[in-house]
Amino acid sequence: MDKQIDSNLTAQTKTRYNRIAPYYDVMEIITERTFSRWRRQLVARAKGTVLEVGVGTGKNFPYYQKGADVKGLDIADKMLLHARLRAAKLDFPVHLMEGDVQSLPFPENSFDMAIATFVFCSVPDPVLGLKELRRVVKSSGEILLLEHVRIDRPVTGFIMDIINPVILHFIGANINRRTVENIGMAGLHIQKIEHLGFMKMVKMITVKADKAS
Ligand SMILES: C[S@@+](CC[C@H](N)C(=O)[O-])C[C@H]1O[C@@H](n2cnc3c(N)ncnc32)[C@H](O)[C@@H]1O
Repeated sequence: MDKQIDSNLTAQTKTRYNRIAPYYDVMEIITERTFSRWRRQLVARAKGTVLEVGVGTGKNFPYYQKGADVKGLDIADKMLLHARLRAAKLDFPVHLMEGDVQSLPFPENSFDMAIATFVFCSVPDPVLGLKELRRVVKSSGEILLLEHVRIDRPVTGFIMDIINPVILHFIGANINRRTVENIGMAGLHIQKIEHLGFMKMVKMITVKADKAS
């Protein structure tokens, strides 16, 4: 039987992101100098019908190519308020909605592609969320991810495990997520992975949505 969504943890995630929504972009000004380059690289590859989950304040929107057909979803309505302001400045429509990646409101094979940037660190059950992306993306499609993960070194990884509960409480993100392993646990196959940033903490991952295997 498929795992159930933990509604308490999911509500907590929503509360945390609604709380930091007014400060989110300011909090990330320094990291964004580097992240924006990676966002541009990833999002430029979006084509066809695209589902972006955990859109947040819509930081990726400027990097979609003109004419992109994008649906954006996030669990936190206050993050979406900021995303709507960004979307209004675009010359193509981005359809935004509140929703949970662990239980997507779309039939199977609805999209050519899915995108998520810095999202699976905060989704309570990332494997469930990744399985949902696998379900709604066509077999011929791709899932593009940009995620920070637990650093794969004994001491640094251990320190990340220790301080994770504090970070999670204040900003809603788990700094020790094993997203590469979670992708495999969701039955997905990594086609390409790029290791980026400090101690290769950020991964740019291309996943095949192929459901045959
Ligand atoms: C660290 S922010 C990243 C936002 C944006 N993708 C970016 O790159 O700036 C994580 C986002 O994921 C959203 N999120 C967390 N859990 C979610 C879930 N279960 N379903 C949908 N969105 C979720 C949060 O509300 C938040 O907006």
